[in-house]
Amino acid sequence: MLSKKRDKKNIICATYANRAFTKPIPKFEIPKEGIEPEAAYQIIHDELNMDGNPVLNLASFVTTWVDEKAEKLMVENLNKNFVDQEEYPQSGIVQERVVNMLANLCNAGENYNSVGTATIGSSEAIMLGLLAHKKKFMNEHKNARPNLVIGADVHVVWEKFARYFDVDLKLIPMKKDRYTLDVNDVKNAIDENTMCVGAVLGTTFTGQLDPIEEINDMLVDIKKEKGWDIPMHVDAASGGFVIPFLYPELKWDFRLSQVRSVNISGHKYGLVYPGIGWLLFKDRSDLPEDLIFYVNYLGNEEATYTLNFSKGSAMIIAQYYNLLRLGVNGYKNIMQNCLTNAKYLAHKMEELGYFDIIPKDLKMPVIAATMKKSAGMDVFTLSEKLRQRGWIVPAYTLPKNAEDVEVIRIVVKENFSRDLADILIEDMKRFVEQPNKAEMSNNAPKQNKNQIHNRIC
Ligand SMILES: Cc1ncc(COP(=O)(O)O)c(C=O)c1O
Repeated sequence: MLSKKRDKKNIICATYANRAFTKPIPKFEIPKEGIEPEAAYQIIHDELNMDGNPVLNLASFVTTWVDEKAEKLMVENLNKNFVDQEEYPQSGIVQERVVNMLANLCNAGENYNSVGTATIGSSEAIMLGLLAHKKKFMNEHKNARPNLVIGADVHVVWEKFARYFDVDLKLIPMKKDRYTLDVNDVKNAIDENTMCVGAVLGTTFTGQLDPIEEINDMLVDIKKEKGWDIPMHVDAASGGFVIPFLYPELKWDFRLSQVRSVNISGHKYGLVYPGIGWLLFKDRSDLPEDLIFYVNYLGNEEATYTLNFSKGSAMIIAQYYNLLRLGVNGYKNIMQNCLTNAKYLAHKMEELGYFDIIPKDLKMPVIAATMKKSAGMDVFTLSEKLRQRGWIVPAYTLPKNAEDVEVIRIVVKENFSRDLADILIEDMKRFVEQPNKAEMSNNAPKQNKNQIHNRIC
């Protein structure tokens, strides 16, 4: 039994009775003395309520819900550093199994000669994939200046690669009413110094697909005509876990001879929480040996091809869990649900009469829409109003040559139900039809166009 003295102390230490709650929170210097864990937890937990609600975050492609067992495995493995293969060899084996499964998903063929690695996300995977193409090109063209041919529909990380790794960028601008690559533009842009052509399976801006097979076929012809063997890297950050399940016949992957590397975000439609991407090379020979680091660490020699040394194992393990737990049919059902709800939402938005949906034939569960002049409201105002209700729906302008096109974008994820779609439609209708009456008391910060643009990722 507790003594009276102890009982009293416990009462005084009840979380919100703690003195920490009446003092400013340290923001610049590490406090000299710590506070009770309950108080520290509660202060931070409460403050983070100022963040948006992940379930209403329709801006992000990144997973906002996983099942309990996946969460349990993540928590059990949070204390493992993936790079410590000597200590945690099984995590490394799990990574290899996932790489094999994803290479198969991308139709790498039956000789199992693909290689790949887990990364922090698609950005790291894209950098590493392109670096391999640069290295391979430079090994074969000693004094050449390499260039990278991509469309303006790519994610900013492609441009970052060109700047960080000193490669000339040939960025093909968008066209009026066309927000993906045009094969003829790619043909005109390539030359003997093109180290790689990039294409996107599900663009960040509109969710549309670049014509990957057409570009591949053109590159095959060029190889025959001019002898330039130009590889393609496909950015399947968002499409990699959607298209193979919904349209297995659509060729965008290693079935195409010039597609030599692919990145996929495990933390997008791979259905794992943030911190996991995948890089795959069709064949071992696509990754130059001189880029692989053999690190002698804690008594074991490990081959690594990553930018970061340490990283957690938890998300790699959660990815494996999803693949085992869901199987092909499970992923297929989830992606089908997402697409069905996206199509429903797009249809309802069109019925409202205020929107034009950009992808006419929705392949990805991503809706990008412009607003008609007759709506009497622009996308930025609508986005701001929706934010007052808790919805996070970004508004932005499209890339080069289509900058005058203002859109909102909605990424439908597995936890966006039909019910939520109906509530969103009701909110849109109310905000457009009664813009002043519908003001909510929420004091979400005002955003300008650039801030909103920066948030789409
Ligand atoms: C097409 C595309 N590529 C690359 C990225 C960057 O991926 P990550 O956030 O996994 O680094 C994104 C992010 O949304 C994307 O949409």
